[in-house]
Amino acid sequence: MTNNIYFIANWKMYGSTSSLNSLNKLINLSKLKKYNKAKIIYFPPFTLINDFIKKFSKSKISVGGQNCHQHEDYGSFTGSISPKMLKDLGCQFVILGHSENRTLGESDHVINKKIRSALNKNLKIIFCIGETLKEKRKKATHSVLRKQINRGLKGVKNCQNILIAYEPVWSIGSGLIPKSEALEINVRKIRKLISKKTKFKLPILYGGSVNSQNITSLKNITGISGFLIGSASQSSKKFIDIIKKTIN
Ligand code: PGA
Repeated sequence: MTNNIYFIANWKMYGSTSSLNSLNKLINLSKLKKYNKAKIIYFPPFTLINDFIKKFSKSKISVGGQNCHQHEDYGSFTGSISPKMLKDLGCQFVILGHSENRTLGESDHVINKKIRSALNKNLKIIFCIGETLKEKRKKATHSVLRKQINRGLKGVKNCQNILIAYEPVWSIGSGLIPKSEALEINVRKIRKLISKKTKFKLPILYGGSVNSQNITSLKNITGISGFLIGSASQSSKKFIDIIKKTIN
C-alpha cells in the first residue's frame, strides 16, 4: 500500500451525542505526519452528522452519510435524506449499496439511480458489493460481482469519484474473513471488471469483520487501498489500533 489508505468508520445505527468525546484521540492521530496517508472518513447516523462535522472541522477527517435517497434534490419523501441535504451539511461522501440495505430490498437499479444522483451533487461514493454465503457456496461470487458492478455503474460517466468496497455479506459482523488467496483473486476480478467501465484506477477497499487482530494479515492483501470498518470503528481505541497496525 503506497498511496492513500482509506479507513472508513461505518457506525450504522449506533452512537449518541455522548459518543463525540471519544473522537479526540483520533483527531490527534490524524494530525501526525506519520499518518498522512491515512484518509479517515466517518459515517455516523444521520442524527449525528452535524455534530461530527463540527467536531472534525479543524482536522482532515471527512464525514459522510450512510445512505441517501435516489432523488437528488428536495421532494415529498417522508423520512428520507437527499444528496443535496448531505452536501448542505458538509458531507463529502455517501455509502451506497451496503448489503444491509440490499437485504431490505434495495435493487441494483435503485443503487444505480442513487449513485448518479449523489455524483450529480458532487458527493464521493463508497459503492459496496459482495456475495452472500449461498452465492459463494454456489461458486457464483464472480458473476454476482459482475452483475452488481455492471448494473450499479450503468451509464455512470464520472467514475473517478467512486471507491469500491468489497464486502462479502457472510463476513459482515460474523467475525469471519475470506482466505487471503481467495480475497486476492476476488480483488483482481473486481479490478478487471472495473477497468471495463472506466479508465480510472478506482480504490478497492475491503470490509467485513476487520479488527485489530486480523488487520495484520489483511493489510498485506495485494490490490487493497483500505478498509470499511463497522463494529470495530465504534471504539476509538480499536479503530486507532487498526490504523497504527496498517501504517507502521
Ligand atoms: P463489520 O461491518 O466490520 O462490523 O463486519 C462492516 C460493514 O458492514 O460495513
